[in-house]
Amino acid sequence: MSANKATLELRPECGPIGSEIAGIDLSAPLDGDTFNEIEVALWRYAVVVIRDSNLMPAQLAAFSRRFGRPQVNVRAEATNAETPEVFWISNITEDGKPVGSHDAGRYWHSDLCYLETPSKMTLLNAIEVPERDGETFGDTQFASATAAYDALPDDMKARLDGLTAANGYRYMWNKKAREFGLRPVLTEEELQKYPPDAVHPIVRKHPVTDRKCLFVCEGYTHRIVNLPEAESDTLLQELFAHLANPAFHYRHKWRVGDLLMWDNCAVQHKATNDYELPLRRLMQRCTIEGPVLA
Ligand code: OGA
Ligand code: MN
Repeated sequence: MSANKATLELRPECGPIGSEIAGIDLSAPLDGDTFNEIEVALWRYAVVVIRDSNLMPAQLAAFSRRFGRPQVNVRAEATNAETPEVFWISNITEDGKPVGSHDAGRYWHSDLCYLETPSKMTLLNAIEVPERDGETFGDTQFASATAAYDALPDDMKARLDGLTAANGYRYMWNKKAREFGLRPVLTEEELQKYPPDAVHPIVRKHPVTDRKCLFVCEGYTHRIVNLPEAESDTLLQELFAHLANPAFHYRHKWRVGDLLMWDNCAVQHKATNDYELPLRRLMQRCTIEGPVLA
């Protein structure tokens, strides 16, 4: 029996989401039972952290693969050369080149929701965390899409039933480019190399827990299908504002070595842009694909 198994301990945060798993050393082999416990904790708490996980990209990729099929991000310049399923998020530039995506996660979103098969989960590992005078920056915020759905009034639940919406990588690209200036605004023609919109249900059923989750996000969802544009815009703004209610939130304060895992159906997330160089942030990420159920 591995030492890992004996010491697994869950420390739930307060609120609907978030938990710490103590006693796991991911640099040592992990037996199947312990792995299953981690997975159960993920579906139960939606956001879980394993501390002190100082992983090489290949180790992150190997652990991630135990959850399912890893995805290679469409933004090839931010993927790791040897293990392309590892994606870099950083504000660092080396030899004139960004080390990873400089503006990841700036709006509420669910990872890779612009694909037909988005990410069921994400693993994000902190290598460098911005810090000054003992204070850290660049927290990641989470919103429970399950709690947000449950809290909707019944008439809104009825209204959303059966509706679908378009989620666009191309839409996100120019929205970020215009707002933050960290990527070029692209023409329609230039955007063609990125995936077309994916149409998904506005409310989806969690594949493991069966709970209903709100699946529209500020970052990518731009049009409700079969509604006039003005009505679609108003309804989307209303839903985005609803999800932004702190009653549904958990905020992760990073420590170096944190391996944070989240369930992209049960939660949405958003980066906090409250630091700049010389404070450095470097994170490596894997996403695992999963289905969208109506
Ligand atoms: C992500 C993401 C937010 C952050 O890794 O998918 O959105 O705080 N990250 O880095
Ligand atoms: Mn993300």
